[in-house]
Amino acid sequence: MPLRPADLARRKQAGLPIWVLTAWDALSGALVAEAGADAVLVGDSLAMVVLGHATTLPVTLDEMLHHCRATARGMASVCAPGQEPLLILDLPFLSYQCGTDAAVAAAGRVLKESPAAAVKLEGAEPETLVVIDRLVRSGIPVMGHIGLTPQSVHRLGYRRQGNDQASRQRLEREATALQAAGCFALVLEHVPDDLAASITAQLTIPVIGIGAGSGCDGQVRVTADLLGLTPRQPPFSPPLLQGRSLAVEALRRWMAGPAPAAAPTRPAADAAPHC
Ligand code: KIV
Repeated sequence: MPLRPADLARRKQAGLPIWVLTAWDALSGALVAEAGADAVLVGDSLAMVVLGHATTLPVTLDEMLHHCRATARGMASVCAPGQEPLLILDLPFLSYQCGTDAAVAAAGRVLKESPAAAVKLEGAEPETLVVIDRLVRSGIPVMGHIGLTPQSVHRLGYRRQGNDQASRQRLEREATALQAAGCFALVLEHVPDDLAASITAQLTIPVIGIGAGSGCDGQVRVTADLLGLTPRQPPFSPPLLQGRSLAVEALRRWMAGPAPAAAPTRPAADAAPHC
């Protein structure tokens, strides 16, 4: 059996760190599974990282499912059967904001049409809490996501959240409400370290941080940022290597190298037919 949401909770109880990495295709899925991630998130950041959009808003559920299935194939290519990390899919913008029935239908498609075992969605508005409760009661595990929420870029920008007392208290209330609604884990993005540590201590579900300090139960990163493949990385996610310039330089060196030797001529009878 691949990892399940409950396995992440067991890691928190045992005081073990939880490592979550994003992936978007077979190549990246294989990479992060081979590296030993506990969970793989097919995040809607793929809209920007892979599809070249300016925000995460345009990506569709069909596109997310396509990338999720490819990611799962990559994970399966390097994992012993049943040893795959937990696969989580981000519900894209407008797939869960248009009413509870539509949200159940969208999240249900994720479980029916891909090997993902859980969905992630952003925010903790009262309507979102109702949606989460209904999804969980329908048998669909949900990961929450608060703090910087890229689907709200036109309202909140990409700024750090939780900078004043009112906003800190709101995030604490939201975290508690998401746990009560049934989320199995929570992503906290770009919030002060001490606030993230205090929320982590208050919740029984695992808190997975990005730009939230080291006091969380686990960490999540956009793999393309970590590998230095994206043109610019967010300040809270410095690259581990300069993947983009390493790749560009290697390709330039190859093209500047000696031209490949001419192919040997073959007798006419062996020649491939012309179409
Ligand atoms: O879409 C994504 O990659 C995410 C992570 C940044 C948590 O939501």
